[in-house]
Amino acid sequence: MTIKTLSLQNFRSWREGRFQFAPRKTLLVGPNASGKTNILEAIWVLAWQKSFRAKSWPQLINWRADSAQIQAEAVTKDGQQRLGISLWQKEGKLVKSYLVNGAPVKRRQFNHLAAVIFRPEDIRFIQGSPARRRRLFDRVLAGSDWQYHRALARYQRALRQRNQLLLNNASAGQFLFWEKELVVQATVLQERRHQLAAFINRYWQKQAPNWLPKLQLHYQASAISLAQLQAQRPQDRQLGHTRFGPQRDDFALFDTQGNLAFWASRGQQRLAVLGLKLALAAYLAEVNGEWPLILLDDIFSELDEDHQEYLRQFPWPGQTIWTATTAVSDSWEKVVEIGTRN
Ligand SMILES: Nc1ncnc2c1ncn2[C@@H]1O[C@H](COP(=O)(O)OP(=O)(O)OP(=O)(O)O)[C@@H](O)[C@H]1O
Ligand SMILES: [Mg+2]
Repeated sequence: MTIKTLSLQNFRSWREGRFQFAPRKTLLVGPNASGKTNILEAIWVLAWQKSFRAKSWPQLINWRADSAQIQAEAVTKDGQQRLGISLWQKEGKLVKSYLVNGAPVKRRQFNHLAAVIFRPEDIRFIQGSPARRRRLFDRVLAGSDWQYHRALARYQRALRQRNQLLLNNASAGQFLFWEKELVVQATVLQERRHQLAAFINRYWQKQAPNWLPKLQLHYQASAISLAQLQAQRPQDRQLGHTRFGPQRDDFALFDTQGNLAFWASRGQQRLAVLGLKLALAAYLAEVNGEWPLILLDDIFSELDEDHQEYLRQFPWPGQTIWTATTAVSDSWEKVVEIGTRN
């Protein structure tokens, strides 16, 4: 899939903006705070219907406006699509609408684009909390598999219910109902997480470019069974929460020297996360039957000259959109200059 154009109205710093992208390799170049990441964020919102950095939707609307529009012309395996999202404030609430070729659709049907982004902050996937890693894998799985999406929602509901029962003096029967649900949904979640981890490891073994470190993903599943949940009730009651299950799963990234969280330099961690994102893009390509958009925000900082050159020369699958503050090299199909403040 590719996007040909993007139009923004009152999205973040962009009062009005219209951008064109080359089929494979576009560089957005401009000074700090010129709105480059905002452009990638708008594309991301079209792909996943959420932001990678806003805590709430209203943050996406320009400070001097009360509505925002994102529109794009895309080419996907289903043909040409005009995609649009509008956001507006109405009686203190935020309203969203999704349009495909001018017709309003439900969020669930607004699934024509997929994207993977690499951002400097992403080394947090290695150093940060397990919750951050789970969210990354959950987004890829839930965004590409409706059953996973549903299982996750059901699991989270059952977990909230059981945790609530732990705080009350609930009967065994009440516990049993939600514990059964937890076990059923955990099986779906953990099976898919295992499959994704196995896919990533296969990708790294067989297809990863040689300038990436030799990586391995270790999936550490926190298994649960009905008997175990029942046996754990007294201790869980004391703590007030459920201590085992997918909400405690973790993923660790290793290379030949060990766990990258413990020894790798920032540049090495950055390359490892890039390897992870590349593998996730390959996974989405397999599931969707076409490569997702690959967004590379400020990727060159903290990488040495050699690695910068490897990245530029790498035959990226599908469409890539890059941002940088200076346009080094001439390996771009298209360079879009983003002015100072708009
Ligand atoms: N809702 C909003 N309304 C108006 N301006 C906003 C809004 N949200 C963010 N901004 C502004 O957008 C600018 C940041 O844009 P962005 O992060 O895209 O910059 P950038 O070109 O990626 O910069 P850098 O090179 O530093 O990463 C900031 O100056 C910020 O104040
Ligand atoms: Mg930026």
